[in-house]
Amino acid sequence: MTKPVIIAIDGPAASGKGTLSERLAAHFDYAHLETGRLYRAVAAKLLAAGLTAPSEAQAAEVAQHLGDADLNSPHLYEEATGLMASKVSALGPVRAALLAFQHDFAGHPPGGKAGAVIDGRDIGTVVCPNADVKFFITAAPEIRAKRRVGQLQSRGAGAIYAAVLRDILERDALDTQRTNSPLRPSPDAHLLDTSDMTAEQVFAAALSWINKSR
Ligand code: DC
Repeated sequence: MTKPVIIAIDGPAASGKGTLSERLAAHFDYAHLETGRLYRAVAAKLLAAGLTAPSEAQAAEVAQHLGDADLNSPHLYEEATGLMASKVSALGPVRAALLAFQHDFAGHPPGGKAGAVIDGRDIGTVVCPNADVKFFITAAPEIRAKRRVGQLQSRGAGAIYAAVLRDILERDALDTQRTNSPLRPSPDAHLLDTSDMTAEQVFAAALSWINKSR
């Protein structure tokens, strides 16, 4: 079997990396792994158990035993879960527990697909440093907060802009300042600032870069 093609997409919260990943995966018929979901599942399970300030050992224990039901928790996309995910993802043993799953996905994309689009914070730097194409997607925090409010409202959830912006800034600080796999662009990543771009324009720009770099 030939080695799967890997497209790595990293970036901060609500930068548009999820939308771009889904579109690229559909376009190339590749599998898609949203790695934030793994960290969110650990966070949701801890919160459901009433562990609002878990120890490293408690968080690692949960990460080692994640199941399908955890990955489909209805609480994954609540802001409290996102913030807790940002906290537990700073813990080395939690990251180590989730790394094997990510490597397995990259090495053998489900459904026998010829490639995988994997998005997160450290895909190009740590999880798949040899990815075929790497993107680092950013946008101004105010723009990301506005997009996130729109997303939440379209799902029927109320959202206050100022609170969403505060959460985004807090998560940015946690994600970029942690010691273990901090959010930073891989030196060989293609940078895309989507502040003034529509999702359609982001997709077109990414596709054009992929076609140029292959
Ligand atoms: O992409 P997201 O907002 O769903 O991710 C939730 C949290 O998980 C984020 O604040 C940081 C963490 N995360 C990480 O540390 N590494 C990844 N590869 C993906 C997510």
